[in-house]
Amino acid sequence: MQAVEIKKGIYWVGVIDWNLRNFHGYQTSRGSSYNAYLILDEKITLIDTAKDTFHDEILERISSVIDPAKIDYIICNHLEQDHSGSIPSIMAKCPNAKIYTCFPNGLKNIPKFYGDLDYTGVKAGDSLNIGSRTLQFIPVPMLHWPDSMFTYCPEERILFSNDAFGQHFASVQRFDDQVDFNVLMYEAKKYYANILMLYDRQAKKALEDVANLDIETIATGHGIIWRKHIAKIIANYKKWSADETTEEAVIVYDSMWHSTETMAKTITEAFVRRNIPAQLYDLKENHISDIVTEILTKKYLAVGSPTLNNNMMPTVASFLCYLKGLSPKNKSRLTFAFGSYGWGGQSIGQVEDELKKCGFSIWLDKISIKNIPAKDELTKITETILQK
Ligand code: FEO
Repeated sequence: MQAVEIKKGIYWVGVIDWNLRNFHGYQTSRGSSYNAYLILDEKITLIDTAKDTFHDEILERISSVIDPAKIDYIICNHLEQDHSGSIPSIMAKCPNAKIYTCFPNGLKNIPKFYGDLDYTGVKAGDSLNIGSRTLQFIPVPMLHWPDSMFTYCPEERILFSNDAFGQHFASVQRFDDQVDFNVLMYEAKKYYANILMLYDRQAKKALEDVANLDIETIATGHGIIWRKHIAKIIANYKKWSADETTEEAVIVYDSMWHSTETMAKTITEAFVRRNIPAQLYDLKENHISDIVTEILTKKYLAVGSPTLNNNMMPTVASFLCYLKGLSPKNKSRLTFAFGSYGWGGQSIGQVEDELKKCGFSIWLDKISIKNIPAKDELTKITETILQK
């Protein structure tokens, strides 16, 4: 396991998690990486670590450059264990190293994770001289935990951004000009939708905080390092955090005997007839983290469920629970609920209630059809959408 020199004297010493397929319910089809960076200066500094399960791998990469016992400082930009989990194994090699973490939330919580070590809390405006370089600390609370921070090195024009701007994307390549741009940006969008969408307001603030920095490289905590497309990823973060949407629709449903599915297809066609591109997702066949990625940038959302034992389908409940958790409650989505039922029909109202709890506007009254949709009932759905 070799380190990769990303700038003179600065090495990627992270871990590639090729087989990761589930990150807190987020389907990570392309795996991930936990990026850590080693800076060789008068004070040898490690920025972030990796999951504990990979501590051998990170130590091996560090050892390909220096003896880990020589590390003076460890910067913990974020306490979540995918970035901090190897701290104990690394500290076992360099027991006198100092650990820098964000004040107050990192400093308050880190002893509960890793016990009594030499911690220093840093706040906005603080910096650390490591020799020929300086590290400046920029707290970015809730991107993605209260303790999250960026570390900026002005001499190298590198922003070590941890979760922000990252992607769950395992690759042997390290830089954005070495991988397919569309795949990279899709994974960055999926990451924002599934990890950061709830924190739009904090993302906007973080963008303001770095707006005046001279940035040549964004060294992320996951996936690929940005050096060519920095303006593009920052522009997209501005769009995503500003809740900019396109005039497009997402239709999500589950169905037992195809009646709700027939309604879903009719709704999709009706949007297309309104010149609104629409995409249909059956929850039995599509992962909720992929659907949420589409919802991030599309204006309309229709959610359908038949009634099963007086409730919505568990697949629909799971999707709406996930979406509600990620919704910052000020999203401008235009939504409605639909579904077929045999007798009670409670599911459609339940779906509508959940859409309201997401903070979305109800664009159409809920649409319920008893038993199998008749032709005139489907025509009425189409007309309702066309005339809205
Ligand atoms: Fe990649 Fe919030 O940890």
